[in-house]
Amino acid sequence: RVAGPCVLVLFGVTGDLAKKKLLPAIYDLGNRGLLPPGFSLVGFARRDWAHEDFAQVTYESVKEHARTPFREEVWRQIAEGIHFCPGEFSDDGAFDVLAMMLKEIDETRGTGGNYAFYLSVPPKFFPVVVEQLKRTNLANAPEGAWRRVVIEKPFGRDLKTARELNAITSAVFPEKSVFRIDHYLGKETVQNILALRFANTLYEPIWNRGYVDHVQITMAEDIGIGGRAGYYDGIGAARDVIQNHLLQLLALVAMEDPTSFDADSLRREKEKVLRSVRLPADLSLGTARGQYTAGWQGGEPVVGYLEEEGISPDSITDTYAAVRLEVANRRWAGVPFYLRTGKRLGRRVTEVAVVFQRAPHLPFSSTDTEILGQNALVIRVQPDEGITVRFGSKVPGTAMEVRDVSMDFAYGESFMESSPEAYERLLLDVLIGDPPLFPHQAEVELSWKILDPIEEHWAASGRPEGYPAGTWGPPSADAMITRDGRVWRRL
Ligand code: BG6
Repeated sequence: RVAGPCVLVLFGVTGDLAKKKLLPAIYDLGNRGLLPPGFSLVGFARRDWAHEDFAQVTYESVKEHARTPFREEVWRQIAEGIHFCPGEFSDDGAFDVLAMMLKEIDETRGTGGNYAFYLSVPPKFFPVVVEQLKRTNLANAPEGAWRRVVIEKPFGRDLKTARELNAITSAVFPEKSVFRIDHYLGKETVQNILALRFANTLYEPIWNRGYVDHVQITMAEDIGIGGRAGYYDGIGAARDVIQNHLLQLLALVAMEDPTSFDADSLRREKEKVLRSVRLPADLSLGTARGQYTAGWQGGEPVVGYLEEEGISPDSITDTYAAVRLEVANRRWAGVPFYLRTGKRLGRRVTEVAVVFQRAPHLPFSSTDTEILGQNALVIRVQPDEGITVRFGSKVPGTAMEVRDVSMDFAYGESFMESSPEAYERLLLDVLIGDPPLFPHQAEVELSWKILDPIEEHWAASGRPEGYPAGTWGPPSADAMITRDGRVWRRL
């Protein structure tokens, strides 16, 4: 899978995402031989930089963050195609220069008018950038060429703003040219959910309400909000990651098999799941939210959310969110899907645990099986990528004692190949024009429809409960699941 000659235009090159993920991903693609001949990168930002300055900035972030080893000849090839266009988004002149620059690149590097515009900028700048691309006719592909636009979340802060945002891009770019990034879909372990379910016969027969007791989807982070107060405050954990990453995971776990792996079939099945999601009847019992207070992380004291720089001292933003959902269809009716996420939790771990029902009858004495848990299949998304199956096994000895054991698949042990970073895969798909791993606007809107009532309920319920940094969230989250006679998995 190699893309044809093209130019990637990056708006927002001075941001964190560009520095830590996008620029290194371009190098890694080059190192794997996946960039097309003539590939060119144009940075656009409000900086007084020459081409060489941007090349130097790119070089530094590659050196610091690239996954693959540094090779001088790969870097030299990429550096030849690096350009910079200084300017404000509102400056017509700067965009006219950009248009001329792209024309020149086409002539000198044979990129044929194929451009991907990556908007790695806060959504408030989308309208002006998209308008400029329209005004300069850059959004319009001439015969035989393509133009694509890549946008990053947040796709709004609720259904209404998501629709407004979409109206802006869709007025200029057709849906097939819009690539919305949910970087979880670029993760190897997330794509593997589909392989696990649909390339095997072992799991699918029991992947339903007849055998599954419940599903737990956890995305725990040990980090706080770092320097992202401006983005995070007023957004919170649920909008930041449940609306996108966790609901996408839920959709992949719960969906029916698609007729093929093209974008339309996949999206159709995910949409059906999202449309079937039901909220708890009582939102105060079926959801929980928290905000971290001062505590300890990795042996160091850390401040509480309200003491973080840039956070208003009376902020009621959630840094922890948990919700109990159901999927109302024949396969899943009555099976709870518990989703939880939080910052400053005990450690960084993302996993999907499918927990099975207990055996209907145990022909062993109860003392021999008293510590036997439920069978579980755990998809370890990160950081220790793999899959674990938990089941009961006889303890060696003369008695018939049964205890839980694990069977493990670890990527590092089974594969020689290293996993590409999520952004590598997604950038390549943009350049190739392969859309299955990018959510459709319909999925974005369905996810907001799930979240909006929860956010409204929280907004009317006062302050979130505190939880000390380094612990596993507020007591109400535990109460939410124990009320159902279940417990969160210990991580
Ligand atoms: C982003 C969120 O989408 O995902 C961040 O905005 C979060 O708040 C990040 O830290 C986590 O990504 P990953 O790939 O490290 O799990």
